[in-house]
Amino acid sequence: MRKDVMFPAILHGGDYNPEQWPEEIWAEDVRLMREAHVNVATVPVFGWVSLQPDEDTFTFEWLDRVLDKLHAGGIYACLATATASVPAWLDQKYPDVLVVGADGRKRKHGNRHTFCPNSPNFRRLSTGLSRRLAERYRDHPALLVWHVSNEYGTYCYCDQCAAAFREWLKARYGSLEQVNDRWTTRFWGHTYTDWSQIETPTSNGERSMQGLLIDYDRFQSDSILNCFRAEAAVLRGVTPNVPITTNLMGPFKPLDYHKWAAEMDVVSWDSYPPRGADPAGIAFNHDLMRGLKEGQPFMLMEQTPSQQNWQAYNSLKRPGVMRLWSYQAMAHGADTVMYFQWRRSRGAQEKYHGAVVEHVGTSQPRVFQEVAALGKELETLGTRTLGGRVPAQVALLFDWDNWWAIEYSSGPSVDLKYVPQCAAWYKALHALGIPVEIVSPLADLSPYQIVIAPVLYMVKPGVAERLEAFVQAGGAFVTTFFSGLVDENDRVYLGGYPGPLRRMLGIWAEEIDVLSPQESNEVIFAEPFGNLRGSHAARLLCDRVHLEGARALATYGRDFYQGEPALTVNQFGQGRAYYLATALEGGALTELVRALCDERGIASPLPGGPMPGVEVMPRVSPSGETLLYLLNHAQTTVTQALPEGEYQDLLSGQAVQGHADIPPRGVLILVPA
Ligand code: GLA
Ligand code: ZN
Repeated sequence: MRKDVMFPAILHGGDYNPEQWPEEIWAEDVRLMREAHVNVATVPVFGWVSLQPDEDTFTFEWLDRVLDKLHAGGIYACLATATASVPAWLDQKYPDVLVVGADGRKRKHGNRHTFCPNSPNFRRLSTGLSRRLAERYRDHPALLVWHVSNEYGTYCYCDQCAAAFREWLKARYGSLEQVNDRWTTRFWGHTYTDWSQIETPTSNGERSMQGLLIDYDRFQSDSILNCFRAEAAVLRGVTPNVPITTNLMGPFKPLDYHKWAAEMDVVSWDSYPPRGADPAGIAFNHDLMRGLKEGQPFMLMEQTPSQQNWQAYNSLKRPGVMRLWSYQAMAHGADTVMYFQWRRSRGAQEKYHGAVVEHVGTSQPRVFQEVAALGKELETLGTRTLGGRVPAQVALLFDWDNWWAIEYSSGPSVDLKYVPQCAAWYKALHALGIPVEIVSPLADLSPYQIVIAPVLYMVKPGVAERLEAFVQAGGAFVTTFFSGLVDENDRVYLGGYPGPLRRMLGIWAEEIDVLSPQESNEVIFAEPFGNLRGSHAARLLCDRVHLEGARALATYGRDFYQGEPALTVNQFGQGRAYYLATALEGGALTELVRALCDERGIASPLPGGPMPGVEVMPRVSPSGETLLYLLNHAQTTVTQALPEGEYQDLLSGQAVQGHADIPPRGVLILVPA
């Protein structure tokens, strides 16, 4: 696998679908791309039928001409393998390719992303197309990066998948007895007596066994990954030096992106925040994607230059927002700024989706002008922003297995959702301007001083040992209610919650109380902890905790468990392990995070932290230079205090010192002068 993909410039461009347009327009496209300072075009993501109109006919000549034109215009190709949309002839000829939905019904041809990942015909024909593309364009000077398929993610429930699932289970667990045991099938008398009885979990079938459901998610994620892997292997064989990616979708539940990222040379993803999105929420998604490869830069593969078409209300991005959000992506690790799509389509599903070239077809519109201005600005940055790493001392753990397991469980509360819990801790760090890396529980934790694992419900093999080693060596570990409950098959660790985390946390959690949204308890800090003192609202769940070596930092204020621990800390080896037994609201959580960071001397790069509305991110370039990104998401000018020293803003060229006045939607990229 290649390491550290470095692009020759900040890639600026996006999805280009020339096959939807008469050839006369292509030259105009390239002319307009140059006017927009575009240097990359992703072609032809949905072009399968245009490249292969039937099984034995290949029509690559048009793509030859497109690539030649792009190259002549100085534009790189992010070359798609075109396998995301299956041709009608192919579905008709090989019906096994058509996916069966969760309702058990086989799809008819249509839409996109509709192939069964275990269809041998799909595998054969998709890799066949990839091979021909790779062989034809291996030496084409425009080829810069491979884009396999598009936004993978459709689960299939067909008989082919059922058969493959049984094989997957045999390989993973060895025997049917093991499967029965792992899935706790004796409950409700669900014991399987023959492999053939195991079916896919369709909505009219078995959906009451969480062990099965989690394994089916793992299996489908793996199956779809095998499609990517198969195409990537072909490409790697022919063009070993061209990096390979596929565009991911942020916190997308169906695919275990940690496993996926390990197979990709560079992570890329599609960011579509709705209007008015919380900047911290967008930042969380970027950081989740950056953390997939433990901090390696990623590609912003798609964003809309103006509006979407799939929200209920698709408002325009206000002037300056596209630029601001582009730099936000760069601040969080993006080395590319790319759009869906280049030219608005004339008809069909996405004709009202934003594009760089609007239906009027000229460079006159506001959107085009904003794109061109940004492209010009990005050119002035050269390669200086590329390859930077975020120097995070805090890690937030995120795990797809855990996500599936928490949300398949019946009880304890319908409001217990994994991503919002992680996002709440992230937002606290974001408000304080403290960079964080979001990583898998199986990542190397040695770069961090603090590891936060919100709702670490499932503790997979090896995780408790790694966390113990981290704390023993001096780290601070923080976890919450509903943690340490189950193993990788959603079987409860017997002998007391939080199971394998109990020793390190120095507590036993006896019971879990549940609060409706209208209810709250209180968390009382009798002694101040950082800025926390007095009473704060407790929400969602309240674990009843006994101290087994830990100390209570706060207690419950009400109900029959009044006075019992609500926040605990345990000295373990050289480090400390904290347990927050209930959910705190935003302000209190931020103060808790501040106190934890203060204890370790971890602070924002900005003195006193960012002003409200301001976002700060440092990126350290391969040369060792620190670039400090400052973004103002507020509607008013903000005066922000700066760290000591003299700086230069790479965007304006101006010298800054002491403080900076950042206009609404303004961006500064500071380097030491
Ligand atoms: C996704 C797809 C694109 C396009 C956009 C529209 O990101 O990858 O092909 O459909 O959505 O927002
Ligand atoms: Zn299938």
